[in-house]
Amino acid sequence: MSSTFGTLYRVTTYGESHGKGVGAIVDGYPPKIHLSEADIQPQLDRRRPGQSKLTTDRSEADQVSILSGVENGMTLGTPIALFVANKDQKPSDYKTMRAIPRPSHADYTYQVKYGIRASSGGGRSSARETIGRVAAGAMAEKFLFELYNVDIIAWISSVGTVQAPDVDISQITRADVDQHIVRCPHPSTAEKMQAAIEAAKEAKDSIGGVVSCVCRGVPAGWGEPVFDKVEAKLAQAMLSIPATKGFEVGSGFAGTRMRGSVHNDPFVVKGDRLGTRTNFSGGIQGGIANGEPIIFRVAFKPPATIGKVQETADFDGEEVVLEAKGRHDPCVVPRAVPIVEAMSALVLADFALRQKARG
Ligand SMILES: Cc1cc2nc3c(=O)[nH]c(=O)nc-3n(C[C@H](O)[C@H](O)[C@H](O)COP(=O)(O)O)c2cc1C
Repeated sequence: MSSTFGTLYRVTTYGESHGKGVGAIVDGYPPKIHLSEADIQPQLDRRRPGQSKLTTDRSEADQVSILSGVENGMTLGTPIALFVANKDQKPSDYKTMRAIPRPSHADYTYQVKYGIRASSGGGRSSARETIGRVAAGAMAEKFLFELYNVDIIAWISSVGTVQAPDVDISQITRADVDQHIVRCPHPSTAEKMQAAIEAAKEAKDSIGGVVSCVCRGVPAGWGEPVFDKVEAKLAQAMLSIPATKGFEVGSGFAGTRMRGSVHNDPFVVKGDRLGTRTNFSGGIQGGIANGEPIIFRVAFKPPATIGKVQETADFDGEEVVLEAKGRHDPCVVPRAVPIVEAMSALVLADFALRQKARG
């Protein structure tokens, strides 16, 4: 099992959903950067369960502590350990589910692979594992912005069949995204998305959605072809987030329905560099950033644990009826926004350090 991500900006996450806590160890963080818990907490607050009526009721403050690698508010260049305590576990919710692998969750596959699994809460497959990623990503975002003026904004572009119109990617801010609890910056669409999530919850069911993301200010030249192309690392990063089912960059699958004459991005002078008039490439050509905004989308499935009756089989192969208990997200995308931003930051921080190492 690989719990470590990155080449020079290396992040190892640890912890189970119902253990003592979760977190990350970050190796490769640049020295002499001002860093405190206050730089990390806002993104954890956006990820936290119980933040709105559209998320799971599990109530966790998710307060982060920096255990090492920082002295007098300044990074030392040594490994930075991050810790968040688990406080609101309810193992009893999982009693009936111990003998029954939840359909489309990770209970069956973890059991088959390891011959044992965390007895409640989904262990490492739980979204609580992403706390370490979000904390390490918030740290990465800080140095990406301070040293390179790179910023990253994600938002919800669809929930079920409710699709938001295009947003102005040069202007969008996190404040725009957080105006509505759904995290869609288009107010009337956000209302429809909320209604769709509430209808799924009311029916003891769940619903999926798409998170879109833009990374602005990424210098032309970052990326490591051929196997560590920018889009390849982003795809790996995004598809490692629980509940993801698809990744598209730039024109994505829609590009297959266009002609090259329409799809090509002609070069134009933009200040002191060559830019492109259109951006169907999504800011990446040949696996290397071209200086245009990097744009991509991530598809999230409807979460697996639902209260609605499901006919399935238990671990012994007996046919059973499952009505899952517990506190679960009817839709994961509002909470997935900071996770997508964090994984983008981990990818870009690694490319920044790798480009620097080339001299
Ligand atoms: C922010 C977030 C919250 C999630 N909440 C739940 C949840 O409440 N219930 C659930 O069954 N799955 C939830 N998931 C998804 C599961 O963790 C995931 O589906 C499971 O580990 C199986 O992995 P897979 O879907 O990637 O195959 C959540 C995922 C994310 C990103």
